[in-house]
Amino acid sequence: MLKLRKRSSRTHTFHMTAQIIDGKALAAEVRAEVAQRTATLKASGITPGLAVILVGDNPASQVYVRNKVKACTDCGMHSVLEQYDASMSEEDLLARVQSLNADPSIHGILVQLPLPAHINAQKVIEAISPAKDVDGFHVASAGALMTGLPGFLPCTPYGCMKMLEHINYPLKGKHAVVIGRSNIVGKPMAMMLLAQDATVTICHSRTPDLKAHTLQADVIVAAVGRRNLVTADMVKPGAAVLDVGMNRNDAGKLCGDVDFEGVKEVAGYITPVPGGVGPMTIAMLLANTLQAATNR
Ligand code: GUN
Repeated sequence: MLKLRKRSSRTHTFHMTAQIIDGKALAAEVRAEVAQRTATLKASGITPGLAVILVGDNPASQVYVRNKVKACTDCGMHSVLEQYDASMSEEDLLARVQSLNADPSIHGILVQLPLPAHINAQKVIEAISPAKDVDGFHVASAGALMTGLPGFLPCTPYGCMKMLEHINYPLKGKHAVVIGRSNIVGKPMAMMLLAQDATVTICHSRTPDLKAHTLQADVIVAAVGRRNLVTADMVKPGAAVLDVGMNRNDAGKLCGDVDFEGVKEVAGYITPVPGGVGPMTIAMLLANTLQAATNR
């Protein structure tokens, strides 16, 4: 087990900055392993297949889905991108999902969120066969995670866990503070940390005095979508800080929820944005798609 660097003895003449967890490099490792296992599966006659559905023309979503499909192709998987006009009816979308559920060449189905307001996103997610729910958003997947049963893990928190595993972070008995309570990141993240014997606090937009909580944290996961939410004065020296945020600063540059420049002087580990959690999300989607095909 990797020993955490002690920061309590830090002086002005002895100043360490955080170890940066390179998500891009780790994602490349995961993808290489998935590619290798995909080749083996293909040799036995099964080509893992992912279907990605995008409804509407949200520019960020368009970039995400293109990256997901390209990542699949790059590691030897079959992938299809279905793009529909924002006016698509809920009924038609449900029919597309049903058709993909029945398609033997498709092992994973991903409906990119957000969906247009006239479509009930939860209803669409529940229409996906749990066996093909590579996003891990189905109520069956969420329930399995909560009860400790096998099921697909949502890709972003799964990627965060992979990063902690990579640095051999000993979660047992540690205090993890998750900021954000979404079904996509915050809640599943908390469950995964709990399953590894961390003591978990979930904070959110209505938490008074966030700093009082984060200062107690050995691990901080910031997943709110507000830049500079976590500043150096809120971080315990040596803590591991995972930044799930995807924001733009005034100059239009991509940035996370963490003040990286400030926090890296205090934290023991930190993930950058870009090049941190983001690439891991896609890598874990590939891992889930491979898993779905292997389960067949
Ligand atoms: N929108 C933002 N993140 C995600 C994700 O991980 N999956 C899907 N389907 N939509 C998203």
